[in-house]
Amino acid sequence: MLSTYFLIFASLLLIPVMSDRLKREKEYHNKAFSEGLRKPADKYYTIHAASLKKLNKTLEQYSKGKSVLEYGCGPGDNAFFLALHAAKLVAIDISDYAIKTATERAKQLYLTNTEFREMNAEELEFDDNSFDLVFGNSIIHHLDLDISFGEIRRVLKPGGKAIFYEPLGHNFFINHYRKATPEMRTEDEHPLLIDDINLAREYFDEVSVDFYHLSTLAAVPFRNSFIFKPFLKFLCGTDRLIFKMLPFMRKYAWFCILELGKK
Ligand SMILES: C[S@@+](CC[C@H](N)C(=O)[O-])C[C@H]1O[C@@H](n2cnc3c(N)ncnc32)[C@H](O)[C@@H]1O
Repeated sequence: MLSTYFLIFASLLLIPVMSDRLKREKEYHNKAFSEGLRKPADKYYTIHAASLKKLNKTLEQYSKGKSVLEYGCGPGDNAFFLALHAAKLVAIDISDYAIKTATERAKQLYLTNTEFREMNAEELEFDDNSFDLVFGNSIIHHLDLDISFGEIRRVLKPGGKAIFYEPLGHNFFINHYRKATPEMRTEDEHPLLIDDINLAREYFDEVSVDFYHLSTLAAVPFRNSFIFKPFLKFLCGTDRLIFKMLPFMRKYAWFCILELGKK
């Protein structure tokens, strides 16, 4: 009898239990992707052209012929770009709706080098030293960074890179907008702070950050007008100048590209 109780207790310990935070992330993103909850923010992303150009160039360079993990892939948009260059791409997300959608889209595109898996980014089911590149778009600010930086380092091969495109959390005006639109985000997400970037230095041998989008936000109201493109180009140059001449302003940017290296 005692041994039966012991076996039941031991098996309960072995069943992975999802924390409330992870449950909230999964439920929110299932709803967000199926109901388009984040659509109202799309207009702001029209200004991302400059940072995305840099990001895509870097991703192309590091993924060519390599083994790549997309971390928090959502319904798969970035994965379809990475799959064009990588030898093998595995993309994971905690949202089963996202993984189902991405898998169906990959089938329609006849992708043979890509696999989508429902998985917790803080508990990766991969061996140590599995990937040359780990990439994530707007994912690590949803995670416990101590755990996820450790996991990313573990699955990266020596010489591997991790690249993240993430929002920052120091700009008062952007934070005010975030507070005013709670339906567009999860209660646990935390746009990155400089302390979070400093934490990355404890886990990785090389850390570099590029900051994007401060004055460029002023182009958003003109997104449907003919002056948008030239105005955005001018503001991109202005941002570069501000971040070069006034380094203390960098943390007020909206987004950053974080490049982490394991020796
Ligand atoms: C802002 S969305 C970004 C999705 C995608 N990278 C994109 O660019 O469209 C954040 C993503 O992180 C996923 N996520 C949140 N917590 C996670 C976790 N612990 N493990 C895996 N994915 C997680 C969500 O399900 C969601 O797809």
